[in-house]
Amino acid sequence: MLSLNLGGKTALIAGSTQGIGFASAQAIASLGANCVLIARNEAALKQAVSKLDAGQGQRHSYLVADFSQPRQVSDVVSAFVKDHPVHILVNNSGGPAAGPIADAEPEQFINAFQQHLICNHILARLVIPGMKAAGFGRIVNVISTSVKIPLKGLGVSNTIRGAVASWAKTMANELAPFGITVNNVLPGATATGRLEAIINNKVSKTGASLDEVEHEMLEEIPAKRFGLPEEIAAMIAFLASPAAGYVNGTSIPVDGGRTGSI
Ligand SMILES: NC(=O)c1ccc[n+]([C@@H]2O[C@H](COP(=O)([O-])OP(=O)(O)OC[C@H]3O[C@@H](n4cnc5c(N)ncnc54)[C@H](OP(=O)(O)O)[C@@H]3O)[C@@H](O)[C@H]2O)c1
Repeated sequence: MLSLNLGGKTALIAGSTQGIGFASAQAIASLGANCVLIARNEAALKQAVSKLDAGQGQRHSYLVADFSQPRQVSDVVSAFVKDHPVHILVNNSGGPAAGPIADAEPEQFINAFQQHLICNHILARLVIPGMKAAGFGRIVNVISTSVKIPLKGLGVSNTIRGAVASWAKTMANELAPFGITVNNVLPGATATGRLEAIINNKVSKTGASLDEVEHEMLEEIPAKRFGLPEEIAAMIAFLASPAAGYVNGTSIPVDGGRTGSI
């Protein structure tokens, strides 16, 4: 039987005050899980928590942490997991700034590596013991289609995403015997604050109009539209569910068909 029920499970969802992270929290909460949101802005976290479905008795909360400060992330989350086993981890954060790779300063790579790979690793290590004890764990990493085909003008991001995908595949192989899966969701161009920033960056770098930049991006998408955060979240929630127990170590594009590889 298809089981999407997450009743009794606790999900830790990072970068979840808006965009793909918040939509993921909404989807996972609607399947019955207790959600713990993490981001930097406490007021936005409170608001996001208040919007989650609690109709099945779910209890939602939040933690404040900045992923550019891995030690802070570690301190905040290790205090939480002492008393709260986590069954689902969604690794997500703000994306690195756009720009040609040849112009990137070495520090930009180091910062992006910390914010993405190191924080993912810290969170995974903190929740794995609880997942092992429960015999159930789901780690879903929000990355980018650039792990299949690098995207123009996203040099630092392309580089770091590849590292996260390799980390995830290695984790997936090690954790599978414990009932824990590790998968990556690769969003295409999705209508969030991040996409707006990327479009504005292209407008200011090229001098093209907003319409021209959007038109050029849409031309590359067979579906001829941007994705909705809810459409990315649907895949994340499925991968978090019992139904996805035999899906492991994958990188799944949710991009309206944009990625040009098979
Ligand atoms: N949207 C797209 O088209 C697209 C495509 C491919 C990949 N992606 C990737 O998917 C991920 C999510 O994208 P999105 O579009 O949903 O982004 P978004 O709308 O900009 O949301 C980012 C979320 O992450 C949190 N965040 C940002 N920096 C953080 C930090 N240093 N520490 C803790 N939390 C932080 C933000 O909350 P606070 O500000 O409160 O911290 C916010 O909740 C990013 O890695 C992005 O690059 C997006």
